[in-house]
Amino acid sequence: MMQYMGMGFRVFLGIGAAAALSAAVLRAQPVPIAAQALPAIHHPEKMQDPEFARSSYVEHCAGCHGVAGSSIPANLPELKDRVGWFMCTPEARAYLLRLPNVAHSRITDNEALADLMNFVVFELGGDSVPAGAKPFTGPELAHERQFALIGPGLKAERTRLVKEVIRKCRAPASLSLQYPHGPK
Ligand code: HEC
Repeated sequence: MMQYMGMGFRVFLGIGAAAALSAAVLRAQPVPIAAQALPAIHHPEKMQDPEFARSSYVEHCAGCHGVAGSSIPANLPELKDRVGWFMCTPEARAYLLRLPNVAHSRITDNEALADLMNFVVFELGGDSVPAGAKPFTGPELAHERQFALIGPGLKAERTRLVKEVIRKCRAPASLSLQYPHGPK
């Protein structure tokens, strides 16, 4: 009798372990490859070297913002079909270059960083780029990156600029959310 119960217990443990293992395997499912495909280049005229700009973005930015500008399910600012709105006003445009990860980038060649940012805005930004927006230039990068934003100042500046962008360029109200996938 004791022996029978012992076996049953072992079988029970075995089933439990198998269930735990399969749950772990399910959780480890990779994101489908299609969601991570490299975005095609539609506006090569906005960059000096579009392919290099795209690969620099992947190397320096995509770890957080996603290869195609979407960080879902990670809770980070979304760039896809959204970042272009910041080209609406000179100040909001400058904000993009004053972001810590841009201003302090280890890409010291300002022409190359301008190209990367033009990839971000004109390729990842999609239809959010206001008509007539001009590409970033090397000298513009060199100038703006001296004024890197930090901490609470960044959030306050974003709030102020986004209000203006929504009013002036009719950007969607959801642009006011810095973390669109996060808690409200
Ligand atoms: C380690 C993660 C990380 C990396 C790498 C990173 N970012 Fe970010 N990015 C953030 C976070 C977090 C924010 C929110 C503002 C802040 O705290 O800097 C942000 C904000 C932004 C925004 C503003 C979006 C908005 O709606 O206000 C843009 C544009 C951006 N990043 C572009 C880039 C570019 C371009 C690169 C590469 C040169 C880059 N980021 C690299 C994490 C990252």
